[in-house]
Amino acid sequence: MGFSKLALLVVLVDFAVAASALTIDEAVGNATNLGTSLDLANRRLSGPIPRGLHRLTNLKYLNLSCNAFSGGIPTEIGNLAQLAHLDLSNNSLSGGIPYELGSLTNLQTLNLSNNALSGPIPPGLGGLPQLNRLYLFNNSLSGGIPPQLGSLSNLQYLNLSRNALSGAIPPELGQLKRLRHLSLHDNTFSGPLPPELGSLPALTRFYLYNNSLSGPIPESLELAQCENLHYMYLSNNNLSGSIPPEWGQLSNLFDLDLSNNQLSGPIPASFSNLDSLFDLILANNRLSGGIPSELGKLGPGGLLSKLDLHSNALSGPIPPTLGDIVNYGTGGLSYLDLHDNRLTGGIPRELSQLTLSRLDLSGNNLTGPIPVELNETRVTALFLDNTNLSGPVPEPLLGMMRGNNYVTSFGYFAAPTPEMRQFSELRYLRLNFPTHGASALDLSLTPATCQYVEWAGDALTEVRFWDACSGQAAGCAVNLIGTGSKLSRAARRRVCLGKISVFLAGDPPSVVEEGLTVDGEYVSSAYLTNKYGKYFLNSTDFLDGIDLGPEGEAYTGVGFARVQRGNLCRNPEAGRVVAIAYCVFAGLLLLSTLLTCVAARRSRRKGAALNTSTKPGGACVAVAKSVWGIVAHIVCLVDLITDVLVLAQVWGAWPMWVILASILAPYLVASFWVMHRLLLLRRSRPLMSPLRPRMRWIWPPPPPSSPQESPAGPSSITQKLLAFVLLPLGVPAVVFLDVSAILNHFGAHLVLGDIAYSARAYHESRVLVELLLESIPQAGFQTALYMLGSSRATRIFIDEPIFVQSITFSLLSVVVQYSCTLWEAVKGRQSLRRALSLRLRDGSYVLTAISSGVAGDDLLNAAEVLELSNGN
Ligand SMILES: *[C@@H]1O[C@H](CO)[C@@H](O)[C@H](O)[C@H]1NC(C)=O
Ligand SMILES: *[C@@H]1O[C@H](CO)[C@@H](O)[C@H](O)[C@H]1NC(C)=O
Ligand SMILES: *[C@@H]1O[C@H](CO)[C@@H](O)[C@H](O)[C@H]1NC(C)=O
Ligand SMILES: *[C@@H]1O[C@H](CO)[C@@H](O)[C@H](O)[C@H]1NC(C)=O
Ligand SMILES: *[C@@H]1O[C@H](CO)[C@@H](O)[C@H](O)[C@H]1NC(C)=O
Ligand SMILES: *[C@@H]1O[C@H](CO)[C@@H](O)[C@H](O)[C@H]1NC(C)=O
Ligand SMILES: *[C@@H]1O[C@H](CO)[C@@H](O)[C@H](O)[C@H]1NC(C)=O
Ligand SMILES: *[C@@H]1O[C@H](CO)[C@@H](O)[C@H](O)[C@H]1NC(C)=O
Ligand SMILES: *[C@@H]1O[C@H](CO)[C@@H](O)[C@H](O)[C@H]1NC(C)=O
Ligand SMILES: *[C@@H]1O[C@H](CO)[C@@H](O)[C@H](O)[C@H]1NC(C)=O
Repeated sequence: MGFSKLALLVVLVDFAVAASALTIDEAVGNATNLGTSLDLANRRLSGPIPRGLHRLTNLKYLNLSCNAFSGGIPTEIGNLAQLAHLDLSNNSLSGGIPYELGSLTNLQTLNLSNNALSGPIPPGLGGLPQLNRLYLFNNSLSGGIPPQLGSLSNLQYLNLSRNALSGAIPPELGQLKRLRHLSLHDNTFSGPLPPELGSLPALTRFYLYNNSLSGPIPESLELAQCENLHYMYLSNNNLSGSIPPEWGQLSNLFDLDLSNNQLSGPIPASFSNLDSLFDLILANNRLSGGIPSELGKLGPGGLLSKLDLHSNALSGPIPPTLGDIVNYGTGGLSYLDLHDNRLTGGIPRELSQLTLSRLDLSGNNLTGPIPVELNETRVTALFLDNTNLSGPVPEPLLGMMRGNNYVTSFGYFAAPTPEMRQFSELRYLRLNFPTHGASALDLSLTPATCQYVEWAGDALTEVRFWDACSGQAAGCAVNLIGTGSKLSRAARRRVCLGKISVFLAGDPPSVVEEGLTVDGEYVSSAYLTNKYGKYFLNSTDFLDGIDLGPEGEAYTGVGFARVQRGNLCRNPEAGRVVAIAYCVFAGLLLLSTLLTCVAARRSRRKGAALNTSTKPGGACVAVAKSVWGIVAHIVCLVDLITDVLVLAQVWGAWPMWVILASILAPYLVASFWVMHRLLLLRRSRPLMSPLRPRMRWIWPPPPPSSPQESPAGPSSITQKLLAFVLLPLGVPAVVFLDVSAILNHFGAHLVLGDIAYSARAYHESRVLVELLLESIPQAGFQTALYMLGSSRATRIFIDEPIFVQSITFSLLSVVVQYSCTLWEAVKGRQSLRRALSLRLRDGSYVLTAISSGVAGDDLLNAAEVLELSNGN
């Protein structure tokens, strides 16, 4: 058994006994001095690092990385005097870095990265003359960099990134003459860049991004001696001052990222000497002056691939020489972002020589037409919004873009234009232009392939949708989040009945375009993404997958089950609204039962005690009764009107027939009554004396009273049939009688010959029929529709207010008519059923005589009421 295997065995014993009663010392026993190398990386070990390790005093190599060790680093490791390589990375170690590590004078490699270590970096580490690699990245170390680290004369790799280190960067680091990689990024270092760093001759990677470094870049930080420097990342700091022109001598520089600082002054023309430059990123600074036309020298044959100068104060024209940065081998400049500067002039036609994944010139004061030559450019994403470019997109340019899957930001279009139709593979359209107060967006010219439109303009109320949103196609989505849009009824109707989703609130998905992303990842199929997932546009049910988060609100006529706060086509509150409406209805029914019974009993008692005709305050009672009668009629009429409004909503869908039938039925019944009565009348009084119809005011209006049984004899079946056939003729009479009934409440009565008539008994029956055939069934039917909500499947659009008001009035109408009938029943000591059937029967009398002798005021007693067909 080899030494290392034995040592391994011992340590494994150690792990085994950790749980038992044996001490680690006993387990390790005499196994000291056995091996020099212990590799336990990647073995899913957990728990604390065994302290007994320190007995393996011959160890030169200890690798416990990629396990789940927790707890602190045992200070006893400081006893392993021979240790050259210590790797404890990728564990869950916590606590501080033991100062005892400073006594491992043979240490060459120290890797404690990807743990949860905290506290300061022990200055003693600076006393490890052999140390070559020091990796402490991705911990929670705090405090400053000990200046003692400057004595690590053999250090080549120093990575302290992703910690909570702070303070100034010690100038002593400038003594690390062999340092190749310096990674201090993602900390909170502050203060200026020490000029001493400029003299690190071996440096190839210089990563200081994401800190709080400030002050100007020191002039002596020429880094010119760093002729091996490949990568310099200083982005996301507060550096100011100008970019040293001497950097133009860094002939081996691949990437330079100085974005998100406060650098000012010009872009050094000397950068044209950076022959190896691949990425130049100077975005988000205060750079001014022109873009040096010398940059064009980086081609042909140059490597420059990405030039990102956006959000600066650069002025002047776009140098046509940028078009020279072509490399016939690798493609040359492929990413050109100059947005949000102060560039003027036109788009140089020379850019047409490039193959660009992104060309963003938006937010500049560019003028003139788009050069026709651009049709030679192959560009994946073109951004030209917020420029002053004029004229239409030249047809050749459109031709060039035809093969693209989407076109972004046609900011200079006044509206989607017919040219858009030519984007035969367009799947996504982002529109952002002022509508100058107009709140309508016409998307009808959008190609049918487009599934997603993002609108970032003014608030909208009207949207005209395009082919993809119709029933046959896959469906479409329009994102209006953040615009404050409120869709009109007509627009909502189109959405709810179409295959359309309109997002109004929530986490707005953004589009990840096909091709190479900014991060250099290759996307083979465009998708939308937000915090809650990725939604591939190529998927047939991509709409259904979208989740807008807990704030998500959308009108949607498709399945789209993940709208968390609510699909506004289906009112999520419908259940509650209905519950409240019906509870109030039940309450009113109960209340009216109670009140009617009490009031009717009292009035009956009074009526028995006093002579009704001489009752004091009779006029008041009469007025009150008239008002109540009118209110009851109005409720009934409004109920009818709201039902007609609902009918208009569902017109064309099957519920139309139910509602239509229910609206017409009471009229047909009334017409039947009228026709039937006229036929009876004809039989009983074939030669009517000429009647002179007049109006007469009789106040107080006599109560509708039950007419006596007609002596005109029972009607024959043929008569009934005839009445049925003549139904339509009765309709005008019904309207006439309805109006008369209302006039009766005001005291106006029809006088024929010398008899005054009232239509109220008839009308009350008619109202009852309406209640039975319309109000009650409609209350139920419309409630059911309302609960179901708008649906593309049923082709019904539920307009919230219209349905709610219709249901309310139907219920109210039921309450009112119920109280009236109950009143009659209680007052007349009848059962409710009898009162109902009496009321129904009275309808067929149509007009009841209430007084004879037009000159006299003698009202007929209710018992003596004659009916029209009875004659005198
Ligand atoms: C350790 O080894 C030594 C000799 O190498 C021996 O004398 C001693 O007894 C051993 N101790 C134990 C605890 O095994
Ligand atoms: C430790 O082991 C891991 C996993 O095998 C390996 O990646 C790493 O390079 C090793 N560390 C050293 C210092 O060799
Ligand atoms: C160490 O952990 C990091 C972060 O979890 C991971 O990216 C890396 O691949 C791991 N290293 C090894 C050698 O497993
Ligand atoms: C820790 O750092 C050393 C030193 O460079 C390296 O060889 C080793 O691969 C690193 N360990 C892991 C797990 O990456
Ligand atoms: C940092 O380390 C933690 C474990 O401590 C790991 O989960 C995380 O992925 C690491 N971060 C990076 C950027 O490697
Ligand atoms: C330092 O470590 C980080 C991980 O936190 C890594 O991203 C970076 O590339 C490393 N630096 C160098 C110079 O390798
Ligand atoms: C810089 O830090 C911020 C927050 O600390 C983080 O969100 C961002 O990703 C970091 N940037 C880079 C380039 O790592
Ligand atoms: C844009 O340029 C034109 C002429 O080049 C000038 O008249 C106009 O004022 C400029 N607009 C802005 C906002 O600078
Ligand atoms: C670009 O436009 C020019 C001039 O209109 C035309 O000659 C040429 O064929 C076009 N090229 C392409 C690729 O459409
Ligand atoms: C959509 O594209 C993705 C990524 O390329 C692919 O994995 C997926 O299979 C595609 N789906 C369909 C339905 O084509």
